[in-house]
Amino acid sequence: MQDPLKKFRIAVFVSGGGSNLQALIDASEKNELRSEICLVLSSDPSAFALERAKKHRIEAVCLSDEDEILAGLERHTIDLIVLAGYLKIIGAKLLTKYKNRMINIHPSLLPRFGGMGMYGMNVHRAVFAAGETVSGATVHFVDKVVDGGERILQREVDIRDCASPEEIQEKVIVLEHQLIVDAVKLLEER
Ligand code: GRF
Repeated sequence: MQDPLKKFRIAVFVSGGGSNLQALIDASEKNELRSEICLVLSSDPSAFALERAKKHRIEAVCLSDEDEILAGLERHTIDLIVLAGYLKIIGAKLLTKYKNRMINIHPSLLPRFGGMGMYGMNVHRAVFAAGETVSGATVHFVDKVVDGGERILQREVDIRDCASPEEIQEKVIVLEHQLIVDAVKLLEER
């Protein structure tokens, strides 16, 4: 059932644990968001994110074919896609149809430490190896350049006391959970 008072009908694309998905679900359930999470789409059938969705009675599917993904989005009349730890490259049809309506969260201060191969721990390892004192997270629109679309929101965290890439990740993920919610709120206000 469509709720006319809700701003966006959101699909969250995931591939793994889904802690950012959880942050969005929690914010939506607390009415901090005016949008509704209507669909969770995973590239991996064993992603824990799927369990999170089911627990909150959100439809959860595992799809890889672009036409099937498009059909699923249409069926749920999705108007905003949030990529939260989604490890697949987005196809051209999806990019065109959801231009300016698809966002991604990335665990670094883009444009630094982004692009092909820069995902998950690879990012934090690179940040650690470069001896950075600050890291952070970025939410941006998705376009055909990996991690290259217009930036919506970015926040920094001091990592001078981090002794490993894992410690950097622990700090950055906390930041991400608030950032992803704040980015959706920002879009709701536009
Ligand atoms: C996050 O660091 C996100 O920025 C990146 O992948 C990770 C996913 O974490 N793209 P989770 O699945 O939301 O816990």
